[in-house]
Amino acid sequence: MNKGSRIYVAGHNGMVGSALLRGLATRGYHHLITRSRQELDLLDQRAVMAFFAQENIDVVLLAAAKVGGIHANSTQPASFLYENLVIESNVIHAAFTSGTPELVFFGSSCIYPKHCPQPIREDYLLTGALEQTNEAYAIAKIAGLKLCEAYSQQHGTRYLSVMPTNLYGPNDNYDLQNGHVLAALIRKTHEAKLNGLQSLPVWGSGSPRREFLHVDDLASAVLALLDSDHIEGLFNIGFGKDIAIADLARLICDVVGFSGSLEFDLSRPDGTPRKLLDVSKLAALGWSPTIALRDGIAATYADYMNNVQRMGYADA
Ligand SMILES: NC(=O)c1ccc[n+]([C@@H]2O[C@H](COP(=O)([O-])OP(=O)(O)OC[C@H]3O[C@@H](n4cnc5c(N)ncnc54)[C@H](OP(=O)(O)O)[C@@H]3O)[C@@H](O)[C@H]2O)c1
Repeated sequence: MNKGSRIYVAGHNGMVGSALLRGLATRGYHHLITRSRQELDLLDQRAVMAFFAQENIDVVLLAAAKVGGIHANSTQPASFLYENLVIESNVIHAAFTSGTPELVFFGSSCIYPKHCPQPIREDYLLTGALEQTNEAYAIAKIAGLKLCEAYSQQHGTRYLSVMPTNLYGPNDNYDLQNGHVLAALIRKTHEAKLNGLQSLPVWGSGSPRREFLHVDDLASAVLALLDSDHIEGLFNIGFGKDIAIADLARLICDVVGFSGSLEFDLSRPDGTPRKLLDVSKLAALGWSPTIALRDGIAATYADYMNNVQRMGYADA
């Protein structure tokens, strides 16, 4: 990939896709190609083939997917399996048939077995049963990464897959039921401060440990991967350190300026005690994250405050 490469970011309106666009633009890549879902429905194979035949794309960043929380995943498994299989099959096959040499496919850490040793290494893939609640999504993501491997093996393409940890940052999903844990906690804490509450409800015991990476660090890791020659396969992308949910909540309270106590809702399940990716494969290429968790949370809170009215949430 060079500064003049024609780079297609699929899913550029999403959290990951928009971070990729920011990262590419700041680094001087200027042939950035995007299509909204209205302009190009990636479920439509004929349209996807025609788009690739016309655009002469050098690099695809495949960050379009049907994404959702536990509730959406467990109530719509057919949609998660079907739409993700079709989007990734259409894009990967069209990229190959139109001669695109490089592609990055975005998976998720839920592809790994539910009871994996920690931290989770790339080679734990397909060594055990998956988490039941998002099995359909995980199966589709595993098929996508295997498709990348297969095209690279059979046809010599450079189709890589990345498995990011929990992400946060601009364009996050702040929905209290279906959003990401860090984003939902920012919103709950802000609203607790506005309403003068004495305590902040936190789901579960607060003891599970999770890893969080700012989405701009994800973009920088992906661009570092594309800059490295002679690499192939699957790469975990994470922060390298985890934090207990209770400590995360305290950090968010501090950033938001909420001085009440934490109230743990033990009726909510904790989930797996720890989920941390092993990032040594990526670290060996010389990449490491640069956005400290506290700084990233402060920037995300500022982004939340800038967009709170547009999102229709309480702001004053
Ligand atoms: N966010 C995380 O914490 C996280 C963590 C690990 C991995 N990932 C992975 O990163 C990828 C992107 O996630 P995200 O958080 O950026 O999700 P997101 O914010 O929901 O963005 C997904 C994008 O895909 C687009 N899309 C979906 N179906 C489409 C279709 N049929 N045609 C065209 N576009 C379509 C959406 O378009 P609309 O805007 O029109 O709906 C949206 O812009 C996913 O594969 C996800 O698994 C995310």
